[in-house]
Amino acid sequence: MFILTSLIAYCLAIAEYKQTVEQTAYGYKGTYKKESGQGPFPPDAETMNFELHIETENRLHFRIFDPLKPNREIPDVILPAEVTEAAQNPNFEITFENNGMQVIRKSTKDVIWDSSTSTRGLVFADEFIQIDTSTSHVPIIYGLHERRTRFALPSKFNYSLYTVDRNTPADGKGLYGQHPFYVELRPGGDSHGVLFLNSHPSEVEVERGFISFRSMGGMLDFYILLGPSQEDVMRQYTDLVGRPCLVPQWAMGFHNCKWGYKSLTEVQGVVDSYRQNNMPIDCIWFDIDYMNEYRLFTLDPVNYPGDKLRAFLKEQKETHGTYSTAIVDPGVFVDENYAAYKELVANKMHLNTPRGDMYIGKVWPGSTIFPDFSNNNIQDYWYKFHKTFLEEMPLDGIWNDMNEIANFCDGYCNESKDREYAWTPANLTVHQTPTELTCHHGPWLEARGFYGNQENKHTAEALRKLRPGKRPFILSRASFVGAGRTNTIWLGDNHGTYSDMEDSIAGVLTSGLSGLPYVGADIGGFTWDNVKEKPIDPNLVTRWIQVGTFLYPFYRNHIDSSSGYHEWYRFGETYTAINRKFMEERQHIQSLFYTLMHESHQTGAPIVRSMSYVFRFDGATYEIDNQAMLGSTLLVTPVLKNNTNTVKGYFPQERWYDYWTNEEDSRVTMKGAEVSLETPLDSINVHIKGGSIFARQRKNALALSKMWDTPFYLTAALDSSLHAEGQLFVDNHDDSNDENVLQMKYTCTNTTMTVRALKRGFRTNQIVEGFMIVGLKQAAIRRVQITPNVAPYSFNYNAEKGKLQIQTTGNGWPVGTELNIQWA
Ligand code: NOJ
Repeated sequence: MFILTSLIAYCLAIAEYKQTVEQTAYGYKGTYKKESGQGPFPPDAETMNFELHIETENRLHFRIFDPLKPNREIPDVILPAEVTEAAQNPNFEITFENNGMQVIRKSTKDVIWDSSTSTRGLVFADEFIQIDTSTSHVPIIYGLHERRTRFALPSKFNYSLYTVDRNTPADGKGLYGQHPFYVELRPGGDSHGVLFLNSHPSEVEVERGFISFRSMGGMLDFYILLGPSQEDVMRQYTDLVGRPCLVPQWAMGFHNCKWGYKSLTEVQGVVDSYRQNNMPIDCIWFDIDYMNEYRLFTLDPVNYPGDKLRAFLKEQKETHGTYSTAIVDPGVFVDENYAAYKELVANKMHLNTPRGDMYIGKVWPGSTIFPDFSNNNIQDYWYKFHKTFLEEMPLDGIWNDMNEIANFCDGYCNESKDREYAWTPANLTVHQTPTELTCHHGPWLEARGFYGNQENKHTAEALRKLRPGKRPFILSRASFVGAGRTNTIWLGDNHGTYSDMEDSIAGVLTSGLSGLPYVGADIGGFTWDNVKEKPIDPNLVTRWIQVGTFLYPFYRNHIDSSSGYHEWYRFGETYTAINRKFMEERQHIQSLFYTLMHESHQTGAPIVRSMSYVFRFDGATYEIDNQAMLGSTLLVTPVLKNNTNTVKGYFPQERWYDYWTNEEDSRVTMKGAEVSLETPLDSINVHIKGGSIFARQRKNALALSKMWDTPFYLTAALDSSLHAEGQLFVDNHDDSNDENVLQMKYTCTNTTMTVRALKRGFRTNQIVEGFMIVGLKQAAIRRVQITPNVAPYSFNYNAEKGKLQIQTTGNGWPVGTELNIQWA
């Protein structure tokens, strides 16, 4: 097993390397030759090779590696791109001195990478590699997902990176995902991104002017992305690792889950109760309770009988427009009479011990073996079992849980001992598998990090084959670099506390900067300790629903088996009415979530954005994570503390409009200051940023799919230069063809609004029923002219509020029609 190692050793022992570099067609190459000294964990490599590719004007890639090692590529992460020539006019300069390298942003002369002043040194030993970059200031760093921290990481930290099943720590220890990627925001507003492409157990430390990268193996393999805005960094990052997948539209709605629904009858009762309380439900989640003794791809014949389940799912989908998803764990129960086990063993596609036996761990069903997803031949097996499973249980999505891999034995379940290492990152020994296992890729130590990615890849392939033309929906707990291309995630097992609710905002923001924009936390809290004596606090649940309504693309109620129940209708009519109001509001802005999801899919931009993302020149925003923005459109300032209805929020210099009244909010507009806002339990502060245009809907239904085709109305909120723009995305809800879409762009000034189609591959009868323009500076408006003249309309103007409303008096404007609207 892992052992703790001496910090002092690797701070003091240094090997001196001499660098030689020459220019090549694509950048540089060279060597590092050891001259003297010794690193902390000898033997060191005598010679390392160095390669640097200037891949684009804003991206460079360099690697330092021991040519005598296998140096395996991490599969399916970096999108293939042939670079044979350096980009002609890079926005950075590279200099080599002191046996290190500097990367300098040309426009500002800012040094964004500097390995030439390292005091700890470059190390390349068999099971320990290290490099440092120095920073001249205390860096503002976002990223290194997944852990529980503030959004802006502290000025000093040492974080391990590996996939770990850990129950909600609040202290920065690594969780389920491994994303060795961060965005650094410099004073002045420029950002750059750094990817340390390594899947071994690793760590990143920030201390006294250095950022150090360490790992138990692999290469020192880095991509530096020049930004300069966070939006640019995200485009550059997702150019490299793939754009986030577009999820089906129903996934924008409300999801209900609980571990511990004892039977289908209980599930049915919950679903009925939502509807009886006039609350919508878009997706029913089945946790491990549906399985026969927790064996994957099976149904409990007594409590979840197949025929009843199929009839239920059919009715939910066909009558109510409600979708369903169920959990799949990777562990396959050891039982000679169980088909999934027998075939996996017959195919020999499972994780093995170094002695060549299959590795047996322990998860919910008891003894389990684990499919080897690094072997592409497993696709047939995985497809076959999904096929029969989805015939038995016709689901719309798959929830891949426990895929870090979580193993209750923590190493071997028998007497065998795992290997020990001279160095390991701290805090990894939770629910681990032995490090020395082997798989098709090679050492498990290297493959574990991307196990979840590969499971999800095979799941997506199976779903594509089974549902041709439809987009797969996969929620995964584990993730690695590039995961967003295939799956979505949630933030794992949290607690029902105000601080967990608050921390979830940073989690959503960080996930967005990891290329996983569709994300949320378990609303209401997964674990409630001691519910018998301390019942669930309905105020917290309501406050959490408010956060989720505006800031969680993945909007799910979920709770564990021993924590009771917090379905949103359970706390009496006062709470039910408030909770319902927010579920309905979520429906009103479902198209904003969906439009932003599509923007992510096109550009890599997160759906939920930090204030520093949107206001990068305002240093006061850099550490804010108790407010966040939905797109660059809505600023959300939720109440996150107990026993208070007052919340303080920072409002950057901008025109801000109250989301609920659509009027400019004089308390906060143009402020650039902190403002205190009264926020009773039935409300949340949401402000429309000046400069935005977005669509809302007014109708509600008991499922999104029953209201998503209803009319839109557009709100344009002008900024101080009397300008606004925005988009609306519409398609047939789950088509996998990226061309079958309608993408409209709206632009507005003090006198005109124009509507243009950016993509017109999808035809629809859906209409726009009205336009509201707020923030106008016009003394009076007497005439509104819309060309072409396709629909009759009326208008009214409130000069005091600068609010113009134009509404159809007929059938409205087809959403795909290009329009010029003028007023005077
Ligand atoms: C762990 C997951 O994080 C949780 O959401 C789920 O309810 C349990 N596994 C049981 O499947």
